Amino acid sequence: MRAGSKYIHAGTEPDPSTGAIMTPIYQTSTYVQSAPGQHKGYEYARSQNPTRKALEDALAVIENGKYGLAFSSGVAATDAVIKLLAPGDEVIAGNDMYGGTYRLFTKVFEKFGIKFHYVDMHDPANIENAVNANTKLIWTETPTNPLINITDIEAVAAISKKHNALLCVDNTFASPYLQNPLDLGADIVMHSSTKYLGGHSDVIQGALVMNDADLREKLYFIQKSCGAVPGPMDCFLVLRGIKTLHVRMQRHCENGEKIAHFLRNHAAVVHVYWCGFEDHPGYAIAKKQMRGFGGMMSFTLKDDSAENATRVLSSTHLFALAESLGGVESLINHPASMTHASIPREERIKNGLTDSLIRLSVGIEDVEDLIEDLNKAIG
Ligand SMILES: Cc1ncc(COP(=O)(O)O)c(C=O)c1O
Repeated sequence: MRAGSKYIHAGTEPDPSTGAIMTPIYQTSTYVQSAPGQHKGYEYARSQNPTRKALEDALAVIENGKYGLAFSSGVAATDAVIKLLAPGDEVIAGNDMYGGTYRLFTKVFEKFGIKFHYVDMHDPANIENAVNANTKLIWTETPTNPLINITDIEAVAAISKKHNALLCVDNTFASPYLQNPLDLGADIVMHSSTKYLGGHSDVIQGALVMNDADLREKLYFIQKSCGAVPGPMDCFLVLRGIKTLHVRMQRHCENGEKIAHFLRNHAAVVHVYWCGFEDHPGYAIAKKQMRGFGGMMSFTLKDDSAENATRVLSSTHLFALAESLGGVESLINHPASMTHASIPREERIKNGLTDSLIRLSVGIEDVEDLIEDLNKAIG
């Protein structure tokens, strides 16, 4: 199946009990057994739920993987991956990534004896240099949130294989429509399904997809033992979101390109971070591993003060000032005080995440309206 047909049909079979074309929301906590141990494959809804199963099958299909697992949030999916590790194990992670991932690593898992090294991942040599005998996992996000840096997944997969470490790629910003990390050698793909997969800013959810059966068993064991599972209604919403992923992503990419160029030509804007510019340091890799450049970007202003950024952030009408991304509506965000506030200021600034940086999640409205909105707000 080609991408569009895949997104619409992935994981969904007519419901066996009624023929319903849409997977029903199986709002149940348990399943009746005819005798102890005699059931239809479903015992208790933390372990199995038919709506979740349909979604998990769909997740596997759209990421070109064998197995999908759905979690109650993106960070719950990340949490499950780190729980594969034991005290003394080490992780190499990017120095520019979602602040909540950094918070989970530093504030929750460090105290359990897992060591994290943060490196600039746009040169794979930095990763190779950080590997040691305890390295068990390489964690990368590409494109990164919010600086849109690109990691060469294929090159990093070669390093992880050479050193027997797992490679997990947070594919939230690209979505499976633009990039499939398993095809490039990653072991696990992670998503905040809250974003492009759901697509309508109405659900919090996470996902993992993998090819290896043993890895799936370990992660499934963590999913059911730790219990961060999504409810059936939320699974239904993400399943429905996936059906239009290709159409939404096409428009996100078209609008993203026009807005990135508009910003770049604006007299009050200094720098625009968007991986579709030919002079972006990760352009060649992005072109090689992605099918488009997406609708996520960040920019800085000539008047580089937090006050000026606040003025712009408070003046848009179509772009809503809110955390999150990947929905049909455009959002504007201030990483330093919102999504990345959990990263200490010195750490942020060191990695280029300045006080005045503004992040956009370009939605699928008419792009002329979006440009007018930004133009008035930037002034
Ligand atoms: C790149 C990335 N990864 C992970 C997450 C965490 O996902 P969630 O908010 O669904 O827990 C986010 C949330 O913004 C994100 O942007």
